[in-house]
Amino acid sequence: MKNVVILGTGGTIAGTGTDPTRAWHYVAAQRHIGELVAAVPELAGEPLEWEQVAQVDSKDMGWPVWQALTAALARVLAREDVAGVVVTHGTDTLEETAWLLQALHDGGKPVVLTAAMRPATAPDADGPGNLRDAVRVARAAAADGLGGVVAVMAGRVWSGAAVRKVHSHAIDAFDGGGEAPLADLHDAGVPLASGWSRAWPVCGGLGWALMSVPVPPRVEVVMSHADADGWVVDALCARDASPRGLRGLVVAGTGHGTLHERLEAALRRAEARGVVVWRSTRVACGGVLPRDGDHWSAAGPMTAAQARVALVLDLLQRQRPAV
Ligand code: SIN
Repeated sequence: MKNVVILGTGGTIAGTGTDPTRAWHYVAAQRHIGELVAAVPELAGEPLEWEQVAQVDSKDMGWPVWQALTAALARVLAREDVAGVVVTHGTDTLEETAWLLQALHDGGKPVVLTAAMRPATAPDADGPGNLRDAVRVARAAAADGLGGVVAVMAGRVWSGAAVRKVHSHAIDAFDGGGEAPLADLHDAGVPLASGWSRAWPVCGGLGWALMSVPVPPRVEVVMSHADADGWVVDALCARDASPRGLRGLVVAGTGHGTLHERLEAALRRAEARGVVVWRSTRVACGGVLPRDGDHWSAAGPMTAAQARVALVLDLLQRQRPAV
């Protein structure tokens, strides 16, 4: 059997608290990935390796951690003796990392993100079960010849492009924004071969090397809401002369990506200064589908946070020298 490599990045799954009766009183990103693996009896004796790539509360996720993670993935996935990789992560920005990884990965081997809503010290911690499931999914996918990026949480397997956090404290906190899971492990266990309920999603294949730039183009997210008069957009543009000036804006619109007319006017002013604008929605599911005559690109099913990552990568590709 080939190895599964587990890359630890922190999160609640590695969190510790002192009062087991109040599980939400804890500090994220405390336990080493080796301790998390040791807490899962079902993984004992399996060909596993682990590596602590970062140790962050994922609210603080950013380019340097993503660079470390993607460098580790590039190195490990290239190894003949590795069947797949599991990444432990915080839940808060998991959807951004999952989106990034599926955009870059060539889809040759499985990369499975997992997390937890309760810290490792909680009597009913969900991390050990999620980690066990993630390793099983990585092995099952590799055995089926499947690759790509997925997230495993609370017994369900979500596409890395579609997964999103939809509940701030429930154990079952993720869904696919309207997309069904690729598998539900509750009854069937880990599916093999034809057991997957949906095809694994195709990756973007942009390549890990896109992460080599030291600083990414600045893309910010703004929201349309009552009284959204564009003040924040004008303020962002006023700082445009700074070294990391604004290059892109994702606007989380109302409903199907509609915008307050005054915010829209400010976005047109930003666009006139060269800022790229993409339209997304503040609604949890469904996204913004493109329509004939759209002035700004629609972000499709992505969340606004995922669209921000996508626009960063889009801008990076535009500045990539032609080969
Ligand atoms: C984090 O995102 O790192 C903290 C919250 C969590 O993992 O649930």
